[in-house]
Amino acid sequence: MTKAICPGSFDPVTNGHLDIIRRASKRFDEIYVAVLTNSAKNPLFSADERVTMIKEALSDLNNITVVSYNGLLVDFCKENGISTIVKGLRAVTDFDYELQIAQTNRVLAPMVDTVFFTTCLEYAYLSSSIVKEIASYHGDIEKLVPPNVKLRLSEKYNK
Ligand code: PNS
Repeated sequence: MTKAICPGSFDPVTNGHLDIIRRASKRFDEIYVAVLTNSAKNPLFSADERVTMIKEALSDLNNITVVSYNGLLVDFCKENGISTIVKGLRAVTDFDYELQIAQTNRVLAPMVDTVFFTTCLEYAYLSSSIVKEIASYHGDIEKLVPPNVKLRLSEKYNK
């Protein structure tokens, strides 16, 4: 049985993330989607809210487990017998950052490898930060996130 993990901040999950997770779910028997802490970011949504949004958006898939974890990604991998990390690469600008993390994770846990999926062109520009920026000005995010995320963003910014 092949297992992989799609880790991220997912604050909130976007159509770009969902595309990568859906494609990964066809390549591996079981996919963990892990909402983790990126110490460089200050999230808008709680970890529980982010997990709920991902679960709602992927409710049609039956080989996905969505969790939050407050620790090192490689520790989660070791605890759950996962040896493959799947990340999306949007552009060359992602590469330096992702390579650094992938190499660090291999030093911490040599049995865990990172594989990169190239983001489909439709979502190459897309990020959670851009989505939040547009939503904060009540702009149209219809094509950027699934309907449940759009709803929760409008609730946040209409408070
Ligand atoms: O969506 P992001 O913010 O690019 O995801 C980055 C994330 C959350 C996957 C990364 O920061 C992470 O793995 N955090 C957990 C803590 C950890 O393992 N840090 C060491 C990585 S060098």
